[in-house]
Formats: sequence, structure tokens, C-alpha cells
Amino acid sequence: MTLKGKRILLGLTGGIAAYKSAELARSLVRAGCDVRAVLTEAATHFVGVATLQALTGQTAWSDLWDPRVADNMAHIELSRDRDLIVVAPASADFIAKAAHGLADDLLTTLVLARRCPLLVAPAMNVEMWDNPATQRNLLALRDDGVAIAGPVAGDQACGETGMGRMLEPAGILAEIEAFFQPKSLAGKRVLVTAGPTEEPIDPVRVITNASSGKMGFAVARAAREAGAEVTLISGPVALATPAGLARVDVRTAQEMFDAVKAAAGTSDIFVSVAAVSDYRVANRVAQKIKKRAGEGPRLELVENPDILAWVAKQRAAPFCVGFAAESEKLGEHAREKRARKGIPLLAANLAQEAIGSDDNAITLFDDNGEHPLGRGPKIELARKLVAHVAALMAARQRRR
Ligand code: CTP
Repeated sequence: MTLKGKRILLGLTGGIAAYKSAELARSLVRAGCDVRAVLTEAATHFVGVATLQALTGQTAWSDLWDPRVADNMAHIELSRDRDLIVVAPASADFIAKAAHGLADDLLTTLVLARRCPLLVAPAMNVEMWDNPATQRNLLALRDDGVAIAGPVAGDQACGETGMGRMLEPAGILAEIEAFFQPKSLAGKRVLVTAGPTEEPIDPVRVITNASSGKMGFAVARAAREAGAEVTLISGPVALATPAGLARVDVRTAQEMFDAVKAAAGTSDIFVSVAAVSDYRVANRVAQKIKKRAGEGPRLELVENPDILAWVAKQRAAPFCVGFAAESEKLGEHAREKRARKGIPLLAANLAQEAIGSDDNAITLFDDNGEHPLGRGPKIELARKLVAHVAALMAARQRRR
């Protein structure tokens, strides 16, 4: 677990989204963090100090003049041993104070006196969010190196709709995890394909591959966590887009090929995780095929372009990573596939273990041989893959 042992100061400010931060506190504790909660006076109108205390298993703080801190240095001491301060929800008022260095309560004082980084998850009414003063303050915070997670658009507690909803606790947790990842791909542009493709037979039937898209989405997320600018080209999947990346949805292999062609030239790395249909139907029809007793329709199949092989062949091709889902003889097929596609790195897994699951077991194949990444959650394997790619690219750079 990437968050195990991390010491977080969780600040809550006044906003209805504060009730969600109780869930966030619980998730952080579950992930192995030491969580110390600090609530502004306004936050205590939405969620109690006792709630945070019970969830974090330690004292939650709210008063700058709390006599329990012997030397009256609560405003400094409570953040000194922390790895990160997370303020969720961060109200417009808190953002304004933090941007201007104001410190008139325990949380803003701790933020001003901090030595550790700060991540804020804004939550406010849409008009407050759109107000140029708030936007100015956010820019100032960003310039100061503060990480900003969210907000998102949607229905608001006040009855209005628009930008300003706090990210859900799981989304904030993902942003905190991202924050702690090494920035091994900073400044790189990464293109990822994910999911299956669908090749129509008639208006309601398709040829497709079994693929949930989870591995490709995990790779895209891991690359973004490592500091890359990521474009994710996805076939039809039922997955939410990880934060902070551009997603292009496609259906057929040809559409995926066109989208890849448009983006490959400006990419430093191409990770082809999609389970692309090797064939499409040549005799596709416009009307639904009717069932006829005793006689099955005959499909004529033509080969689809091999997207990965095409990219790998280009002059000044990005660093190409292929995926191979095999049902047997993993090493043998993987080595042959890597050579045939002309790519520097191939990640191989057993299809029956990977498809649809949140876990996987991957072995990497490159010029130096075989590197088993072990078994685990797809996001953790994706992070290991990203680290491996970054190391290979750094070695290439040194050789040049
Ligand atoms: N791939 C691709 N375009 C295709 C087919 C595959 O870009 N038309 C990519 C996949 O995204 C994956 C790799 O190539 O990264 C391996 O795909 P796979 O279908 O397993 O390889 P094939 O060469 O088709 O071999 P086989 O189906 O015989 O296992």
C-alpha cells in the first residue's frame, strides 16, 4: 500500500461536504495512514470533533488556544510531524485566506506555519467558484505549489447545479496516492489504449474481445501519477475516467487506429493495452440479420491494422509498450510477440487470470530478459510498469 505509514493532517472547513470527509478520514486510516484531524469552527457545524476523533483514533483539534497543548504551540506542533496537509472540504473562505497568508484560526495558522506540502479539495457554491476572486486565489495557491484536487460539476446542496462539488472521498484518496508517487515521467507525453474494440456485424451484433479496460485505465492513471500528460484512447468500457487525463472514446479498431495516428506523433511513450479485434466483418449489413432455421449466417472476416506494430515502425516512434494476454506458454509467446511487433518492452499476463479482475500477475520482457512484477492490484502493477518504462527511457537517454 502506497499510503501505509503516511502522516496526514486532515483539515476540514465549513461546508456541507464536510460530512464526506468523515468517510475520507476512515479510508485514509484503512489505507494505513496516521490521520490527525483539525476542524475550523465552521466545520464543527457540519460534522463533530467527536466523529473525527472516533474515526481517526486520535485527538481531533479545533481551537487555537486548546490548553491540552502544554506550551501553547498548537499552531505549529500539530503539523510538524506530518507528510502532507489535506484540506477537504476547502471553502472559498479558506482558499482566500491560504492564498493571502492569513492565519486567524488553528487550521489557517497550521497551514501558514507548515513545512510539508498542502493539497486542497475545494467545495463551494457554483457562483462562489466562478467568482474571479476565488479563481485568482486558486491560481495564487497553484503558483505556490499547492496541489488542487477537483472540484467537479454536478448537483449542489444549495439546489443549484454547476462546478464546485467536492470530489468524492475515493477521488480525493486517489489524488493523495498520486501525490506520493515518484514523478518519474514528469514532462513526458503518454498515449494509452484500453478496453476492447467492437466490430459490427449488423446494427445490433458485434465481434469483440473480453476486456474490462481496467488494466489500461490503471496504466493511464499510473502514468499521470508519475507526472506525465496522458491521453487515454478507450474502446467501449464501463469505467470512470481517472482524474487529470484526456480521454477519447472509440468503438472499432479502425477508429482506435485513427485516434492513435492523430496522437502518436506527439507522444513520448505509447502503451498499447487495448484488446484490439484482430478482424472485422467485411460483409457487414445495415439491417438486423434474421434467424433462419438450420442455416447460420456466414461472416467474412478481414484483418484489422495492427496499431502497435504500425506505431513501432514509424520514424521517431514513441517508446512502445505492448501487452499480451495469453492462455498458455506465456514466456514463449511473449518473446515471439515482442520480436514480431518490433517493440522494446512487452507486458504479458495470463488472460484467464486478468480479464475483469481488479488483480493481475504480469511479467515484463525487454532486451535484458524477463522481469516478473508479481501478483497484485492492477494499479500497483501499473505503477511498477511505469517505473520500469521510466528506467528504460532514462538508460536510453544516457546512451545518447
Ligand atoms: N494490438 C494492436 N492492434 C491490433 C492487435 C493488437 O495494437 N490489431 C496490440 C495490443 O494492444 C497488444 C499487442 O498488440 O499490445 C498484442 O496483441 P495480440 O492481439 O495479443 O497479438 P497478436 O499479434 O494479435 O497475436 P495473437 O492474437 O496471435 O496472440
